[in-house]
Amino acid sequence: MKIDYKKELETASKGMIMIHDPRLLIKLIVRMIVRKLHIKHAAMILYEPKKDIYVLNISRGEIGMKVPPGFTRFSHESPLIRIFSQREFRPLTLDRNAIVSDDINRLVWRESIIHNGNGKAVKELLYRVDEQMQMLNTAACVPAYYRHKLMAILLLGEKHDGTKFEQPELDFFAALASDAAMAIRNAQLFEGLKREAERNRQLFLQTIEVLGSTIEAKDAYTHGHTGRVTEYSVAIARQMAATPAVGGAGGSARFEESFFESIYIAALLHDIGKIAIPEVILNKQGKLTDEEYAVMKQHTVRGSEMVGPLRLPRECLEGIKYHHEHFDGKGYPEGLKGEDIPWAAAIIAVADAFDAMTSDRPYRKGLSKEAAMAEIKRCTGTQFNPAVVDALVELYEAGKI
Ligand SMILES: [Fe+2]
Repeated sequence: MKIDYKKELETASKGMIMIHDPRLLIKLIVRMIVRKLHIKHAAMILYEPKKDIYVLNISRGEIGMKVPPGFTRFSHESPLIRIFSQREFRPLTLDRNAIVSDDINRLVWRESIIHNGNGKAVKELLYRVDEQMQMLNTAACVPAYYRHKLMAILLLGEKHDGTKFEQPELDFFAALASDAAMAIRNAQLFEGLKREAERNRQLFLQTIEVLGSTIEAKDAYTHGHTGRVTEYSVAIARQMAATPAVGGAGGSARFEESFFESIYIAALLHDIGKIAIPEVILNKQGKLTDEEYAVMKQHTVRGSEMVGPLRLPRECLEGIKYHHEHFDGKGYPEGLKGEDIPWAAAIIAVADAFDAMTSDRPYRKGLSKEAAMAEIKRCTGTQFNPAVVDALVELYEAGKI
């Protein structure tokens, strides 16, 4: 059956655009060549920009390609790489878009090479290329360039019917290899961007962690508090997500994956507004006066304003601003009620209270976890959202907190 090269090329190119993993891309291309184009085996040598070398990425086919160990990396000095990447050798491959092993003898004796002042070196290189191709069990090598840079070499085994490669076939492979090189380059760039984004994200989170810990330097009571509240908050959120129909008939919490990072950030920064509160109020051991309490309460709104320039997700700001709201509407700053209180805030409120109760203070010893749990249960539906308390109870009973 005759192969419709144009159609195969179109299909392959369309598939390539969708894939952003270079290795998977090579696998697909090689598999397509072997299966559809009736070639015994195929492989691809690919440029790895990070290490500045060429690597044999896959070698698969019906009979397989025997590659000696240690023969999967190719430096710029390797004959196969030199012949395709050095400009002076380009005329050798120009007419066929490839090096075909059957051509090598013909090429060596070509007039232009014999009469070229550099003829001996070219001949030697061709013989070394021939050796390399034999070792790789390759009948034809098709280079692929991206902006004149050698990106890949497609290595083709013999055809099943034993016939030689025709020029239209080589042209097809050259087009395919060139599309593949471009797709692989894009995939490599995409991977690089992804890595960069992940690095930035980590850096951002570390900055938030440092920011979150600054409040502990000022507030004598909060040593380690921020870290624990963050840990409890994330654990509660995960527990709620694992429990179906959280919140009962009144509504259920369905958290997107991004919510867990948001609550992590919100919990780290929930008391950041305390930086703006005078230390005499913050560290006062006795009961605060009404005036002092009014100032203290400002840390919620101040905190959400302070982190405004960070352009954090909405849930982060809500967690910071509303973590002192009460389920019965008697909290601050806005007196929000029930499920009008955002989930992030309702979760941090419980985590915050649990840690505050169980931590030692200079003037009192912390409650046992058991006593704190009893107190939190007692305040369910008044101070705390019942769904959040349920999750805390489950975590406590499972010994996870
Ligand atoms: Fe607070």
